[in-house]
This record gives sequence, C-alpha cells and structure tokens, in this order.
Amino acid sequence: MSAGRLAREMGRSTRPRKHLRTSLDAVAASQQQGRRWGRPGGKGCPDLIRTENDTFNLVSAMKSGFLLWLAVVAWWMTGAAIAEETAAERGYRHLLETPYVPAYFDQEVFDNLWTTWPSELRAEAEAASPARRREMAFARYGLTTRPGDDSGKPLQFVVDGQGNWTPNCFTCHGGTVAGQIIPGLPNSHYALQTLIQESRLVKLRMGKPFSTTDYGAMVMPLGGTHGTTNAVIFGVALAAYRDQDLNVVPSKQSSPFVHHDMDAPPWWHFSKKERLYLEGFASKGHRPLMQFALDQQNGPEKFHTWEDDFRDIYAYLESLEPPAYPFGIDERLARQGAAIFNRHCADCHGTYGDRPSYPERNVPLAEIGTDRARDDALTAEHHEDYRQNWFSRYGKDRVLVDPPGYVAPPLDGIWASAPYFHNGSVPTLWHVLHPAERPAVWKRTRGDGFDQARVGLEVETLTDVPRGLDVWTRRAHFDTRKFGKSAQGHLFPEVLTPAEKAAVLEYLKQL
Ligand code: HEC
Ligand code: HEC
Repeated sequence: MSAGRLAREMGRSTRPRKHLRTSLDAVAASQQQGRRWGRPGGKGCPDLIRTENDTFNLVSAMKSGFLLWLAVVAWWMTGAAIAEETAAERGYRHLLETPYVPAYFDQEVFDNLWTTWPSELRAEAEAASPARRREMAFARYGLTTRPGDDSGKPLQFVVDGQGNWTPNCFTCHGGTVAGQIIPGLPNSHYALQTLIQESRLVKLRMGKPFSTTDYGAMVMPLGGTHGTTNAVIFGVALAAYRDQDLNVVPSKQSSPFVHHDMDAPPWWHFSKKERLYLEGFASKGHRPLMQFALDQQNGPEKFHTWEDDFRDIYAYLESLEPPAYPFGIDERLARQGAAIFNRHCADCHGTYGDRPSYPERNVPLAEIGTDRARDDALTAEHHEDYRQNWFSRYGKDRVLVDPPGYVAPPLDGIWASAPYFHNGSVPTLWHVLHPAERPAVWKRTRGDGFDQARVGLEVETLTDVPRGLDVWTRRAHFDTRKFGKSAQGHLFPEVLTPAEKAAVLEYLKQL
C-alpha cells in the first residue's frame, strides 16, 4: 500500500501524524479531571462564616488553598501538555509562534493596507466591516487562517502580543487547494511583492520605519507572479554576506544575480527525499532549513540557539503526508494508467503501490529541457561555498557541487500542488501531459477554482498580458515568455496516445 493510500485510509491530512490536538485534548482532559477532583466547596467546606475576623481568615485560607490547588493543576497541566507534545507538534508550534526574522509590519499597517488598493476595491473595503476588510486583505495577499484554530491569526505569519507581523515558512509553504487550507502545500496565492510594496506605502504615509525586506525590495525583485518568489536569490544574496561560520562580512558575490521566480515544492515530499532542493545539492538535515533565517540581524549565536527548534521543524516536515484527492476517481481507468505510468514515468518518478520506490534521480538539463534559469542562477561556486560552511557542517554532510540538472520529484499528492514544474509555469496536469497545448499566458479564473477535468488550477488562457493593468492584476497573469518562466520541456508524455494520457491523468489523482 502506498504511503498516500495509507494516509488516506487513516484519514490523515498534512498535519503532524499525531495531531497537535492531542496535547490540547490532554489539557482539556486534565482540566476536567481537575474540576472533578479538586472541586472547591466539597466536603469539609464550612457553610457559615460567622465573624468578620473569621471571614477574613477563612477567605485567606481558602484563597491560599485555592492558589495551591491552581498551582498544582497548572503544573500538572503543563506537565501533561509537555509530555504529550511530540517533536513534530513542537515544530509546528515553533513555526506559528517563534519569529526567526524581523517583522514585516505591525497591526496598524496591516489594518490600513486597503487604503493603497485600486479605487474600486478601496471603496468596497471602506464600506466593509473590519472583519470583511481583513478577509479581503487575506485574499489579496494569499493569507489564510490556521486550520483547527479559531484565533483568526494567519497561518503564514507569527503575530505577537505587540501586534508585530513576522513572516514564517508558511508564507510560501502553506496554502489552499479546492477550498482546503493545507500547511505544507505551496502557497499558490502568495503575493509577496505586492504585500511589501503596499505595506511600505502605508509605512511611508504613517511615518513608520522600514523593515530590512522593505530595503531589500528596493534592489531586488521579490516575485513577479502570484504564488512564486525569487526565494533562491534571497538566499544567495544573504549568504554572500556571511563567512563560513555565518559571521556577517562584506559581500563575496562576484557575479550578477540571476533573478528568477520559483514555486515552492510541497513539504510532504520531505520524508521521501535524502537530498534537498531542485538539483538535490544539499543533504537533508535541520541546518539547511535554517537558511531562511539569514537576516543580517541574526548572528551565528542565534543559529546555534535555534538548532533544537529546527530539529523539531525537521520532525514536523518528516511527519507530513500528502492530502487525498477530494473528488471522484475512475478506478478502472486509473489501473490502466498505472501500467502506462510504470512503463514511461517510473524510472524517474518512482513507483507506487505494494512496493513503492523513489530513485531521486537527477536528470541532465538537456534531457529534461525545462526552464534553465534556476540552473544558471545557483552555480558550482555557490554550492562550493555551501559545502564549506556551517549549514553543511563544513562539508561533513555531502554537498553536490555540480549536479547535471534537476531531480525528478516524487508525485505524491501531485493533484494538489498545481501549478507545475519548478517555476510554476504549467497550470494543470493535463497541460503537463500535453506539452504542445501549454498556454503562453494564463490567469486563474477565480480564487481557488479547481479544474477537475484537467486536474489543477482553473484558468483562462491568453495570448498576451493586457496593457494598463494594476500591479496585482498584472501579477495574476503568468507569462511564460518572461525570463525564468518558460513552460517548455519535459516532453516525455509525447509518446503516449490521447487515451493513454487520459489514463495516466486518472492514475496521478491517486498518488
Ligand atoms: C519566500 C518563500 C519561501 C520561504 C519563506 C521558505 N521557503 Fe522553503 N522553499 C522555497 C522555494 C522557492 C523552494 C525551492 C528551492 C529550490 O529547490 O531551489 C523551497 C524549498 C524548500 C525545501 C526543499 C524541499 C525539497 O523537496 O527539496 C524545504 C525543506 C524548505 N523549503 C523548507 C522551508 C522552511 C523550513 C522554511 C522556513 C524556515 C522555508 N522553507 C521558507 C520558498 C520558501
Ligand atoms: C527522464 C526522467 C523523467 C521522465 C521519464 C518523466 N519525468 Fe516527469 N519530471 C522529471 C523532472 C526532472 C521533473 C522536474 C522538472 C522541473 O520542475 O523543471 C519532472 C516533473 C514532472 C511533473 C511536475 C512535478 C511538479 O511537482 O511540478 C509531473 C506531473 C511529471 N513530471 C509527470 C510525469 C509523467 C506522468 C511522466 C510519464 C509520462 C513523466 N513525468 C516522465 C523527470 C521525468
């Protein structure tokens, strides 16, 4: 049985295997027990309070008894909660509660973002209730609430008691598909560049200080299309200012940056992999995950203190399972698809079923033929630098300095992680299977529209991006003719007949 099937049968989603709720249940249970066992006013409690003095004594005695009782229950509850919390649950909590980089903005700035929107939307926001306005902002920038949590806080940001909004990994790695919020799913709605531009404008108007990202965004593109970011080059740029031990030094970068946008991979692949990133250059470990925290204000000592947190975050990633396809599957057609998949695709992507395998194969660029900007952007020099630094334990963890191309990813939960390829250039699985039909320009038709027939984003296709659009609408268009955004390559499905492709498509829904 495949991991995906197993997960489905056990009704799991991409939350930790032993869900966070276990610790909350433990707290609730101990509270109930506390109530039953430590009930004040039970036997032996005096009914009458006679004199003022007596009253005072009695009340203070009751108070101290009550405080003692509270202390015992609190100690016991935290004890129970800590005992129950697994490493994966702690990891999820760190992601939601610990700010590892400086905040982007505060609550006041967030609440005023709508004042920067195009006039029609602004008028709608102005007339709306604060709650509706917040929903509009969430939709515009690709934010969601946290599943199983009614605090209303965003999954994608740590929001502290002072109202500071600090981005976490879920900005890129937590999103929605067909109306479901899934931590670990690439966030196909994230509008980072628009969020930073509009929040900077609000800060300017309110006289508030800029964040490091605000300054960074003045010299570096953050992401030209919703759901994709220039994340790899943020990493390259930040790493250029570090020595091997992560001390901040003058920039070592000698060649110009090759800016390009990428679509984050789903986190539920993590447990299947031994190597990370598109070309698989880094051995899996908790330290590579910490590159996200390479903000100038974080010196080496911060990295050392956060190692345990990132061991937990590693355990959280390792615990994730792909989400199950929520619509119907034609089992007979899918069985036919399995045989075709095993003949034409499994050498690279692995097999599913009783004896699953995953070869983690790096396919040379000339053979895969997908967009090459990522390969040009992260050079042997960058990999060598990584091999010599703290993240790879100074090369103790094997680093591939010059891998030939891109690793064929696992296809578990592939139905959910549209758009496809590392740059997010192909909107549906049908388009992956029909290379000649891939649109030059596409745009999502409505928020979370899911195309069940073609399996992926519901899109309209265009021959060009219309002129005169506001920035948000322009970035809602994916233009495959732009640098780093090509939808070419991966022509392997071309040998299949239309009927065979239909069968493979059905099979892919199950993985
Ligand atoms: C700004 C967007 C962004 C943020 C924030 C971000 N990531 Fe990523 N992440 C990416 C992109 C894009 C890739 C693909 C990079 C590549 O393969 O070259 C990636 C790749 C990864 C991978 C490799 C997965 C694989 O299958 O090879 C892991 C693991 C990962 N990120 C974990 C994290 C963690 C943990 C954090 C927070 C500490 C984080 N990311 C924050 C965008 C982001
Ligand atoms: C020679 C190796 C190879 C073969 C054969 C191959 N693929 Fe791929 N496939 C890759 C690589 C490498 C990528 C990653 C390309 C990229 O992101 O630029 C990929 C990407 C994909 C993706 C997109 C994954 C994602 O997360 O975006 C899908 C879907 C896919 N392949 C399906 C198939 C199917 C179906 C077949 C068989 C008809 C097939 N592949 C045959 C190597 C291969």
